[in-house]
Amino acid sequence: MEKGTRYGRKMAEEVWQSAEVDALYRLASAGVRVPTPYICFEGVLLMELVTDADGNVAPRLNDVELNRDRALAFHAMLLQQVVLMLCVGVIHGDLSEYNILVDAQGPVIIDLPQAVNAASSSVASTMLERDVTNLSHFFSNFVPELVNSQYGEEIWNLYQAGLLTPDSPLNGRVAAPTEPVDIHAVIHEIELARQEEDQRI
Ligand SMILES: Nc1ncnc2c1ncn2[C@@H]1O[C@H](COP(=O)(O)OP(=O)(O)OP(=O)(O)O)[C@@H](O)[C@H]1O
Ligand SMILES: [Mg+2]
Repeated sequence: MEKGTRYGRKMAEEVWQSAEVDALYRLASAGVRVPTPYICFEGVLLMELVTDADGNVAPRLNDVELNRDRALAFHAMLLQQVVLMLCVGVIHGDLSEYNILVDAQGPVIIDLPQAVNAASSSVASTMLERDVTNLSHFFSNFVPELVNSQYGEEIWNLYQAGLLTPDSPLNGRVAAPTEPVDIHAVIHEIELARQEEDQRI
């Protein structure tokens, strides 16, 4: 697509909006907590307004008062949503406390224009890892031990092995490889990389 022209920009915008619309429909029908999409007309997407218990616009997760128990509960709910999303092949790609609203039932995920197709994107595992790390990092303000969790890698390993289901139990730990390291192969790889670097200079 040609960039910098009005046509290029219009196309980019349309692709961008349709990625968000596609992702919203796919996720809503899979039971992920996202705003219900109503209609997309001439580039304007109309969706449900997420509200709090009093009917006011729901606050962002970042603006909600949390304690350890609530943080643990929200973290578990959001991991569940990430897994549900991945089970239908979608990775948010910009998940953080700023793109999550909190309604009376808990977290609702918003802002999906950069959603990634898990099966076809070369950056899928990086995006998933980043989304999950953002969550662990935010919630570790209330639950410090979450900072060392490895949920992203655990979820991705299950997905790649074709074993991920919405009910997959998770514990945030990934076993370290048990096979002995082939030190000669590692040294050989380093030597090759060094030679390649020398050739470039
Ligand atoms: N469905 C919704 N219901 C209620 N509020 C919403 C909804 N969608 C978005 N918002 C509000 O609008 C803000 C911006 O939405 P969003 O994150 O989708 O866009 P953005 O491109 O990231 O915009 P910004 O750069 O202003 O954050 C959200 O932080 C939230 O407060
Ligand atoms: Mg946003």
